[in-house]
Amino acid sequence: MKILTVVGARPNFMKAAPILAAINEHNEKLAADSADQPARRGETIRHMLVHTGQHYDEFMSGSFFSDLNLPKPDIHLGIGSGSHAVQTAEIMKKFEQVLLTEGPDVVVLVGDVNSTLACALVASKISFDSIGSRPAIVHVEAGLRSFDRSMPEEINRILTDHVSDVLFVTEESGNRNLLNEGVSLDKIYFVGNTMIDSLIKFREKAERSDILEKLGLLRQEGKNGESNSIIPYALLTLHRPSNVDNCDIFQNILGGLKELATEYPVVFPAHPRTQQRIKEFGLEFGLGATERKHEKNERGSRNGCNGIILTDPLGYLDFLCLMKHAMLVVTDSGGIQEETTILGTPCVTVRENTERPVTVESGTNTIAGTKTDTIKGAIRRQIGRKRKGGVPRNWDGQAAARIVDILVRRHYEKSSSRPSFISQAVLLEDRCPCP
Ligand code: UD1
Repeated sequence: MKILTVVGARPNFMKAAPILAAINEHNEKLAADSADQPARRGETIRHMLVHTGQHYDEFMSGSFFSDLNLPKPDIHLGIGSGSHAVQTAEIMKKFEQVLLTEGPDVVVLVGDVNSTLACALVASKISFDSIGSRPAIVHVEAGLRSFDRSMPEEINRILTDHVSDVLFVTEESGNRNLLNEGVSLDKIYFVGNTMIDSLIKFREKAERSDILEKLGLLRQEGKNGESNSIIPYALLTLHRPSNVDNCDIFQNILGGLKELATEYPVVFPAHPRTQQRIKEFGLEFGLGATERKHEKNERGSRNGCNGIILTDPLGYLDFLCLMKHAMLVVTDSGGIQEETTILGTPCVTVRENTERPVTVESGTNTIAGTKTDTIKGAIRRQIGRKRKGGVPRNWDGQAAARIVDILVRRHYEKSSSRPSFISQAVLLEDRCPCP
């Protein structure tokens, strides 16, 4: 079986990395098993990683490959930035050539970015032969719905789901949404969350990050400064065009954070778009960024120096470390709502809705909207909250292993000429509870 996995933008990398690792494990296990029993050798998965280049710089892409031990992409489409239409169209043109040349059995697409939809559309209409053979389209993180079609990601999610052949769902709402939209039950598998697989795998390594020290968030204690404690701080991310492209809305959100930033340092790793808007709208001074960025005492501690600490976007491990130790996270990201749920860190989402309701029902997330007062209120409530979230069903670090097992099983079931013992060997009963 030949699998081609596509990544394009920052939130794709941590979702795809565990799938690649699970494919490697599958192949290693096959090699070990066949050394013992050569007659029972199953089929190795051949894998290719395609990077569309939607995100391209070191901050948004490069550092994630090293942090997540991702191999260099086999193919890089080098698309870069552009309007939705231009970006989607350019990816489609180049990806079609990749599919025709490589002829994979399976295309794995993760998340809800433009790269996801562009490649889903191409794979759904490609034809490898005169009878219209095409790869199976697999969508990882299917079924999430904000029910807000003004979000580009919502359009990407709906369309990708409806042209996919296999839908891997992260939470129960995903099952419900897909069934309500008429998707056939036999395509849907509730496997859990591969982004949480990454978090579980890398959380210990992230503890070794020196980001807290770099940002002056460690206070040295004891007579000789022999021990460190973490200065309470909050973490902020904002990148949605609907939040940062309009000066009034952006300022309303920052207004909601003012009180918090008076009492605590607020670390704000800003997306390139957000940095650009901050400059355009002349918000640098209001953020107190420049004068506070390097303001530390001689021991490297901020010692209660509050305000917003503006930084460039951070790598995966540094950001994971910051999320884990923050007293509060304020964000408009989708994935961060899930990561804070597992870390038990209170989260305030500055959006009107979420496509990830499990993070509110059994996690640490609250939806605050984008108005100054509602954000202030939500922050106050969340600061008083205990640091204990719940663990949503199947968010156990095994999602990618389930995905690979199911893909292998489906492949062998389809090719009826294959020896049946192989499909028995890879079947993992009870690991994929469907609705
Ligand atoms: C994309 C996703 C969004 C995801 C986000 C994470 C879509 C529709 N949106 O939004 O769901 O939450 O990624 O970041 O796919 N830029 C750089 N360097 C880069 C990439 C982008 O400077 O490596 C700048 C460019 O000015 C570009 C802008 O960021 O125009 C936006 O990038 P783009 O890929 O269009 O969308 P994101 O806002 O990042």
